[in-house]
Order: sequence, then structure tokens, then C-alpha cells
Amino acid sequence: MKEITIASKITVFETIQELPLVEQNLMSKAIEAREKAYAPYSKFRVGAAILLDNGEIVIGSNQENAAYPSGLCAERVAIFQAGSLYPEAIIQKVAITAASDNNKTTTPVPPCGACRQSIAEYEVRQETPIEIYYMGETGPIHYSTSLKNLLPFMFEKNLL
Ligand code: THU
Repeated sequence: MKEITIASKITVFETIQELPLVEQNLMSKAIEAREKAYAPYSKFRVGAAILLDNGEIVIGSNQENAAYPSGLCAERVAIFQAGSLYPEAIIQKVAITAASDNNKTTTPVPPCGACRQSIAEYEVRQETPIEIYYMGETGPIHYSTSLKNLLPFMFEKNLL
């Protein structure tokens, strides 16, 4: 018998202003996306902005549905859009922000498990780490150098 210990490193930025300029801009695009979310049921708006190596920024927001499971998270809307529009591009950074209409979310909101799995697919596919930045409605912001830090023991194609 042996034990395996996994350690993940997260960097914390206290405010958006503390981020480097490229990331500040990306997070402001995520905020814009968040404001366009369609979240009439949960009142929880999420925005994601993805920076590609071709300079393009692709955004997404959560899109809910009266048949609840038919809705989709912001991160997957954005990553599938990036994969559809620019299949050859390398995904460099993802910025995520979430805000509730009911209260101010100041805790960083990480992507849900399904979104981590979806983003991981692209990281494995492109063989290049994807940087993740996530926050609530305002800072602090959590930063990880790779999606893998958020999804230890990921399910990936090598297991098939
Ligand atoms: N949501 C996201 O957009 N991303 C996540 O990572 C977690 C949750 C959305 C789904 C739903 O529209 C609302 O937030 C409440 O769960």
C-alpha cells in the first residue's frame, strides 16, 4: 500500500489592478460577458474570456434553460466557441468571473467539474498549459498556471 499526495499551487491577486495588463484586459472582457449572461433561473451570472495565441479573445456567458440541464456554463460556451472558430489556435489564458443578482460574490469562483474536464481536453490536445484566472464579482483573483492544477487525476485520452 502507498499513498499519493497531490499539491496544487494557486497564486492570489488581491484586485484586478494587481493583474498584469493583458490579464486585466482579459478579465474586463469576462466581466462584459458576465453582464450578457442569460441566467433568469439561478440569477448567477458567469462570464469567461479566452485569449488565443492568434490574439483573438473569445467570450462566453452562462445560458440557462427552462429545462434546467439543457443550459450551459459560461466556460464551456466560451471554450467550445474557441474550438469551433479557431481549431488550430493555442488557448493561452482563460479568465472567469461570477456574480449573483442576490448578493455580492467576493470569493473566487472556480470552474465547475464539468467545465474543468472540458477545458482539460483542450490542454491535452494542444500539449500546452492553459492559464486560469477566476474571481467572484470583484477580486481577489485566483491564478493557476495550468488547468491540470484544478483537476488532479483527470480523465484523458491516454486512458482510453
Ligand atoms: N455556472 C457556470 O456558468 N460556470 C460554472 O463553472 C458553474 C456554474 C452557471 C450554471 C448556471 O447557469 C449557474 O451558473 C448556476 O449554477
